[in-house]
Amino acid sequence: MLYTLKRILAHADRHGYAVGAFNINNLEILQSIIETATEERSPVIIQTSEGAVGYAGMDYLLAMMRTAAASPVPVALHLDHGKDLKIIRQAVRSGYTSVMIDASTLPYAENVAQTRKVVGWAKKAGVSVEAEIGAISGVEDLVSVSEKEACFTDPGEARRFVRDTRCDALAISIGTAHGPNKSRGRPRLDLDRLKRIDSLVRVPLVLHGASGIDPETVKLVRRNCRRVGDCDRLRKAIGIPDDAIRQAIRRGIRKINIDSDLRLAFTAGLRRALMEETGTIDPRKLMTPSKRLMKDVVRKKMRLFGSRNQAR
Ligand code: G3H
Ligand code: 13P
Ligand code: ZN
Repeated sequence: MLYTLKRILAHADRHGYAVGAFNINNLEILQSIIETATEERSPVIIQTSEGAVGYAGMDYLLAMMRTAAASPVPVALHLDHGKDLKIIRQAVRSGYTSVMIDASTLPYAENVAQTRKVVGWAKKAGVSVEAEIGAISGVEDLVSVSEKEACFTDPGEARRFVRDTRCDALAISIGTAHGPNKSRGRPRLDLDRLKRIDSLVRVPLVLHGASGIDPETVKLVRRNCRRVGDCDRLRKAIGIPDDAIRQAIRRGIRKINIDSDLRLAFTAGLRRALMEETGTIDPRKLMTPSKRLMKDVVRKKMRLFGSRNQAR
């Protein structure tokens, strides 16, 4: 069933759980997510980045996602990290049920101006809007504590931002980071800051960069991985511990974005198949282990987030 983000998150807020927002780029990732959501009776948010739109095309992605949304569980179709206003406008007009406007690296006034513009388009079309205040980055950009602090969401500013923009959900920066390298040591979330933001802001809060980065999956990916690019970076891969996620949900996080864990599962399965199934050239057989591993990821997240059995 197709739902807006606002409606899905309102239910999560009333019942104190979080909904997984999973990034897709192709059919196999989408099938893994929607099959698991249906089996777990969990609401789900399926999202595409602008990169995914560039890779697969918005029309193809939407056609697949609409098919997935025929599932009996609540499904929101979301544009993740919209930065290009043209793409956001196209998404609003084409059938996404929510869009993110990510102007978080711009000065406050410009972030507000762009977000208000998107909220104006979206409200007319019955589409929800997620916006971001406080930039979520990779840790390599956070050289010292004061730079790190400067990046985190200021609770007072978050309250003002929601009032100024009337967005439906707010992405905040409290210590997570995109990609498989979340921090140099064990990642720590600023849960006091989250609690304060939650007490000041009425809309549901969103946690980006929340992948757990399972060491066993990383090990599988690193078999035969060359020590360049992504493979080199995986030597120091570290994710957000499950317990930190549980605590964040207790303090008001209602949407949790997961991409890296799916990428790792996809690549681990495919790498193993390519190495072990040397007798086949059938892409369906080669991608079956990937789907199994991605379904495991989605299932574990739905149980961790408390969204299992919330779709009745
Ligand atoms: O938050 C970003 C997502 O992981 C999407 O990444 O732009 O490479 O598709 P992407
Ligand atoms: P991860 O890189 O931790 O999976 O975060 C994904 C994300 O925030 C997508 O918007
Ligand atoms: Zn993100």
